[in-house]
Amino acid sequence: MEEFVVTPWEVHGAIDYFELVERFGTQLIDDELSKRLKKYIGDHQMLRRNIFYSHRDLNWILDKYEKGEKFVLYTGRGPSSNTHLGHLMPWFFTKDLQEAFDVKLYFQMTDDEKFLFNNELKLDDTRNLSYENALDIIALGFAPKRTKIFLDTEYANVLYKIAVEVAKRVTFSTAKAVFGFTNSTNIGSIFFTSMQSAPAFLESVLEKKNVPCLIPCAIDQDAHFRVCRDVAPILGYYKPAVVHCKLFPSLAGSDKMSASLPQTSIFTTDAPKTARKKVMNAFTGGAVSVKEQKEKGGNPDICSIYQYEYYLFEKDDDKMKELREKCKRGELMCGEHKQILADKIEKFLTAHQEKREKARDKIEDYMLRD
Ligand code: TRP
Repeated sequence: MEEFVVTPWEVHGAIDYFELVERFGTQLIDDELSKRLKKYIGDHQMLRRNIFYSHRDLNWILDKYEKGEKFVLYTGRGPSSNTHLGHLMPWFFTKDLQEAFDVKLYFQMTDDEKFLFNNELKLDDTRNLSYENALDIIALGFAPKRTKIFLDTEYANVLYKIAVEVAKRVTFSTAKAVFGFTNSTNIGSIFFTSMQSAPAFLESVLEKKNVPCLIPCAIDQDAHFRVCRDVAPILGYYKPAVVHCKLFPSLAGSDKMSASLPQTSIFTTDAPKTARKKVMNAFTGGAVSVKEQKEKGGNPDICSIYQYEYYLFEKDDDKMKELREKCKRGELMCGEHKQILADKIEKFLTAHQEKREKARDKIEDYMLRD
């Protein structure tokens, strides 16, 4: 089996998600836990399809909740580019969690991270991108009363104090072991994990009492929260619970939709016609000729069009099954399926972009400031 790598800053190879759970020491969301969640969030396709599939201490946080102790949600975005559709996937789920449990959400914009880890971006760039990305979050309809967004460099008065408490309890050898840093890594990058840990304790700090925290994130972010959870009891806080999703596939058919390859990602800011073109050029599981595909059928398991439907656009399992069967029987040709998906994406983008523009006037309702 080909080696695969999953860290917060590097994802490549064919990911074995079960093996990741072993590597990272997380738990699979089993049937029992799925049922437990269903009571709150309903029959959610991201749970049914194991898109959110792994966790840490989710049962514990539900126990607390059921005894009347509310938690807060915390997630974030590394503003290195405009938002693409893959980024929205965990945000949709986070919004559904927020509504199901009626809880607050803290949304971190790591403008510092994307400056520190990227040679091309200036701090001004990551700051501007943070505000652009915030428009997408607002456009998804998060309630302003209980959703707070902040930038690391702008909410520093509160965050930095928490981050240094964390940083004091994390050694360089831990950071090297967990993240693979070397002697030539810049020292900002080494410190950064304490900035990503800090919001897990934010509500406890602001409320001056211990408040449980649940972090929905893609599994590549888990390393930060392993460090965070080790430090939590030393600081007298609860360990944050985590719920992990798989990484969103790209139009090129690889494992994670990477914004560094713009032609294989669809951005929320793409003109609907541009998005359509990207879909029409996407990698599929089709055969070399129409004739052969009609005879032998296509392969949905490696097809990026199919993956888009599965992860984001087709929530109905029966329809999903029909698409799959028709593809495999050679009845649904790639060109036709691309058109179907392109229509859905165009429709989504048109509506989203309208809400996104309106969000410009609402930003201050969401921002958390010192
Ligand atoms: N580091 C994340 C990224 O690059 C952004 C982030 C910050 C985050 N805090 C988080 C993601 C909490 C998930 C949960 O995208």
